[in-house]
Amino acid sequence: MSGSYILGIETSCDETAAAVVRDGEKLLSNVVSSQIATHQPYGGVVPELASREHLRAIVPVVRQAIKESEQSYESIDAIAVTQGPGLAGALLVGISYAKALAFALEKPLITVNHLEGHIHAVLLEEKQKGNLQIKFPLLALVVSGGHTHLFLAEQRERGWAYANIGRTRDDAAGEAYDKVAKLLGLGYPGGPIIDGLARHGDPKAVKFGPSQIKHSNRGTPKAEQTPHDFSFSGIKTAVLRYVELEGMKESVIARQQALKGISKLTVENVLPLCDKKTLDLVASFQRAVVNDLVSKTLEAARGREARTLFVTGGVAANSELRETFTRRAANEGLPVYFPSRKLSTDNAAMIAAAAYPKWLAQDFANAEFSAEAAMVLR
Ligand code: KG4
Ligand code: ZN
Repeated sequence: MSGSYILGIETSCDETAAAVVRDGEKLLSNVVSSQIATHQPYGGVVPELASREHLRAIVPVVRQAIKESEQSYESIDAIAVTQGPGLAGALLVGISYAKALAFALEKPLITVNHLEGHIHAVLLEEKQKGNLQIKFPLLALVVSGGHTHLFLAEQRERGWAYANIGRTRDDAAGEAYDKVAKLLGLGYPGGPIIDGLARHGDPKAVKFGPSQIKHSNRGTPKAEQTPHDFSFSGIKTAVLRYVELEGMKESVIARQQALKGISKLTVENVLPLCDKKTLDLVASFQRAVVNDLVSKTLEAARGREARTLFVTGGVAANSELRETFTRRAANEGLPVYFPSRKLSTDNAAMIAAAAYPKWLAQDFANAEFSAEAAMVLR
């Protein structure tokens, strides 16, 4: 069978992932080994543990991805790996392994920015469905545990180019989900649990004013300011204050105790431990975050006369975010695309897909490159 087969490797945070994608548009295998159980007791990712778990998982995960794709190490055309942004030690595991593999197999190596990967997750799946009609300008909201960014994306002759026109000034949206979940005793990661609990509460019960998610450029050097910025640390503090003022601390501690022994938290086992006040708070928090993300993104889309919208990254798995974007973008006649839930959160298919234009342009990495924890997407 003809075509170009790219093996993608992703180890930037707490998922060890490998995938094989043909021609940037056909997903042949997608293996993700999650470390959630390792980090859960700490309520967040512990970098040293993440590196150790990647080391343990990388060889079998890549082997399985090759096997499931019905390819072999020899038949792969190139190896793509996440260079950054992410945890330096975690990135290095994927990079070292990718380098060794490329050297041993005498295959070219391609470096990919993790955020570009999230954008290409959407392209991969839409191309696979055969129904992608991207009209430019294309605006992409990348919203995950570590990032909340707006990019204007452009396809050029030798690959893609990006302009970062918005970003969070403090916490990322996913980080706010994780921190709020932690302070409410709802386990880690917070996104999926809050997503499931929110539908059982009243989103109008607690008022979070715009001041809680308003960004301030005070003290930010001009060069670091973007026109469409976000801020999510204020709402986290507002939730904390509400918990204290409303005397909810005891119920949080009781819930933490009850959930201690459970390694895989689900909405079903957390829901019976939440009173109405907690569910209302969770629903109101989510409504405020979703409305802010949607409003600011649509405002940027209007300002830039965007004709296509992508929403991607872990938080793009959120049901209310998807529904609200779909409804409000339709009102403006703007087509909006999301990845499937599986490709919203971290995976390596998106890395292999983002590498394809670089493969076509023969844009290969030399052996000297290293991890870039704060890598910028351009
Ligand atoms: O993209 P991702 O897997 O990793 C990063 O690049 O950061 O995103 C992980 C983030 C976590 O903060 C998690 O709580 C959030 O995505 N998340 C969600 C949902 N599923 C995952 N947030 C809201 N609703 C969800 N359903
Ligand atoms: Zn990510």
